[in-house]
Amino acid sequence: MVDNQEYHDLKKWFEETADERCEDMSAFFDSRISGYEEHMSFWNEHYRRVAELVPENARTLLDLGCGTGLELDRIFERLPGIRVTAIDLCESMLDELLKKHGHRSLEVIRDDYFLHDFGENRFDVAVSVESLHHFTAEKKAGLFKKVYHALKPNGIYIECDYIASIPEIETLAFEECRRRRERDGIPDGRYIHFDTPLTLEHELEAMREGGFDDAALVENIKGTPIIVATKRGV
Ligand SMILES: C[S@@+](CC[C@H](N)C(=O)[O-])C[C@H]1O[C@@H](n2cnc3c(N)ncnc32)[C@H](O)[C@@H]1O
Repeated sequence: MVDNQEYHDLKKWFEETADERCEDMSAFFDSRISGYEEHMSFWNEHYRRVAELVPENARTLLDLGCGTGLELDRIFERLPGIRVTAIDLCESMLDELLKKHGHRSLEVIRDDYFLHDFGENRFDVAVSVESLHHFTAEKKAGLFKKVYHALKPNGIYIECDYIASIPEIETLAFEECRRRRERDGIPDGRYIHFDTPLTLEHELEAMREGGFDDAALVENIKGTPIIVATKRGV
C-alpha cells in the first residue's frame, strides 16, 4: 500500500478518465490555445524565477518547448536584447509567441526537439519549462546530450518541470500511458499528451548521462523543481 495522497489522487483520476482517447501532442495544445496562458498562470512565479536565473551577460538562449513564450515574456523583460531560438511542435503556440515577440531577436522553429540539430557551442543558456514531462529517461538523455553540445563552455541549462514526487508515481504514469497507447494503437515514436514525469533522481541521472555532471536542484516552488546544469568549461 503506497502511503502518498498524490499517488492515490492520480490513480483515482486515471480510473475516472480510463476511457478517454489518447490525444496527439500538437493537437492537444492547438485545441486549448484560447485559455492556455490563463491556465498556466499557476506557474507565474516559476517563469519569473527561471528568468532571474539567466545570467545578465547571456547573449544567446535556446528555449525547448517554448509554447506561447511565457518564460520568454519574463526573460525579454529582463534582457530585451537577448537572441532567442525557440522550438516547439505546435504551430498555434508559435503563432501566439510571434504575436507577442515577433519584433525581438527571435528565431522560431517548428520542429521536434528530439530530431532538430541545434549545432555546437552556440548558446549561453538553454531553458525548458513544463515540456519534457512526457518522455522517457532514455529519450531525455539523448536530448540533454544535444543540449550539452549546443551550449558554449560554461553555458547553463535551466529546467523547470513536473516531477514525480515518489517512484511509484513515475511507474504508475508510465504504465497507464503504455496501456492507453496500446489500446488506441498509437505507434511508437508518435507523441501523445499524457504526463509521465520522472522522479527528480531519474531526471538528474538523465542529465548526467547527457554530459551535465553537476546537474542539481536549485529551488522547489509549489512542488515544481527548478534544476540548473552547467557545461564544463574547456
Ligand atoms: C505545457 S507547454 C509549455 C510551454 C511553455 N514552455 C510554457 O511553460 O508555457 C509544452 C510545450 O511543449 C511542446 N512540445 C512537446 N513535445 C515537444 C517536442 N518533442 N518538440 C518540440 N516541442 C514539444 C508542446 O507543443 C507545448 O507547446
